[in-house]
Amino acid sequence: MSTQPKSFADRVMSAVGGWLMSHMELVFRIARNLAPILVVSFKGRKFALVTRFDDVAEVLTHPNVFDVIYAPKLNLLMDGGNIFLGMRDTPDSTRDRSSMRLAAPRAEALTRIRPEVEAMAEAAMAKAAPAGKVDLAMELTQDLTTRFFSGYFGTPADDVTAFSDQARLLFQFMFADMANDPVFEEKVRPVAAAMRARVEKCIADRKGARGQHDDVLERCLELQDIGTPGMDDDGIRNNMIGFIVGGLPQPPMIIPQLFDVLLDRPAELAGAQAAARADDDDLVSRYVFEALRYYPLTPGLFRDCSADYEIAGGTMRARIIPAGTRVMAATRSAMFDGRRVASPTKFRLDRPDYTYMNFGWGMHQCFGLYMNQQMIPAICKAVLKRPGLRRAAGPEGKLRLEGIFAMNLTVEFDPS
Ligand code: HEM
Repeated sequence: MSTQPKSFADRVMSAVGGWLMSHMELVFRIARNLAPILVVSFKGRKFALVTRFDDVAEVLTHPNVFDVIYAPKLNLLMDGGNIFLGMRDTPDSTRDRSSMRLAAPRAEALTRIRPEVEAMAEAAMAKAAPAGKVDLAMELTQDLTTRFFSGYFGTPADDVTAFSDQARLLFQFMFADMANDPVFEEKVRPVAAAMRARVEKCIADRKGARGQHDDVLERCLELQDIGTPGMDDDGIRNNMIGFIVGGLPQPPMIIPQLFDVLLDRPAELAGAQAAARADDDDLVSRYVFEALRYYPLTPGLFRDCSADYEIAGGTMRARIIPAGTRVMAATRSAMFDGRRVASPTKFRLDRPDYTYMNFGWGMHQCFGLYMNQQMIPAICKAVLKRPGLRRAAGPEGKLRLEGIFAMNLTVEFDPS
């Protein structure tokens, strides 16, 4: 976080930003209807806000026109390296994404992640049961997911809190430090070096203990054994850092956020609880991801337009996005666009999969999608099963954010 005093202009922008965040749906609705492809200039740079479902999808499915913006920051984190998140649609990005899919197969989400996370979540809730309260952010989700991923990835954490704090700081640098604050960058450099050293040690330790683990790291080394391009030690290190920084900080953000939505909707909360108690996993998932639609991880994803491009070609709203424009593809807005999403302001459980952009869209859609589809509802289900579930009294029962991060939302339930 920056320690520099903010200028008046920065303070005005931050106040405007705060107002926009708290009136997001109103702002997006106006934009979708009046200026669906809004291009503005600010401080000599062009910015575009794209808010309709079709246009957001168009931006995110043209990865070689609308470049991801992450490569420079990944370079810093990875000492000059990059991973597929920071690449265009190139042979290297396909190669690495495919190698990592072999190391973390989709099917394992159901066969391994679901049962392990469900058991861990049940155990955590049983521990909280005598007190009848639990903080959904740090106490439950951060602790559980850090422990789970440490085992599944093969990158053990001697200190769960320190490991997840490191990952959160690097996540903030990657995804929230849009102004590239130089003071913050200085704070990040040693943490990035420590993360590299941590993962390098995991690789070295594992090379002395091969064949005894069944996890992502072991499978990466098996790919290295057979000479898979991109799977040298640096490649494995970089992809593992990508998993850690992409994987650890986000479940503790979205679970409190989606509960913040459910706890304000008694009928939906009761329905989700009934589904959890009936072990109806499909229905629990529908409640969970519909609630997340209202309060997703981010209002949108940023891209840099690399060539003049006409978006929404052939329609009345067609517009050229000039090369060099920074574009926000507003996924939160797209999920509320009534042109593609039926009765968008209604909480519905019958929406088709393609409604949901909670985990991105197109080539860069979250690699952890299948993990998330099992892990997030499994954790929520263990909470939802508790009778008398409600917000804790006082400030603890309100979602507390630090910047983009959910730090606390305590719920109470009938003790047992
Ligand atoms: C549970 C909460 C999670 C959320 C909300 C989330 C969200 C996202 C989003 C929105 C993107 C797209 C970024 C963009 O297009 O600019 C993404 C990409 C990615 N995520 Fe996740 N993610 C989550 C969990 C995970 C986990 C558990 C992993 C661990 C493997 C992971 C690894 C990645 C990677 C490697 C990418 C890059 C994909 C690519 O470029 O092909 N994420 N995630």
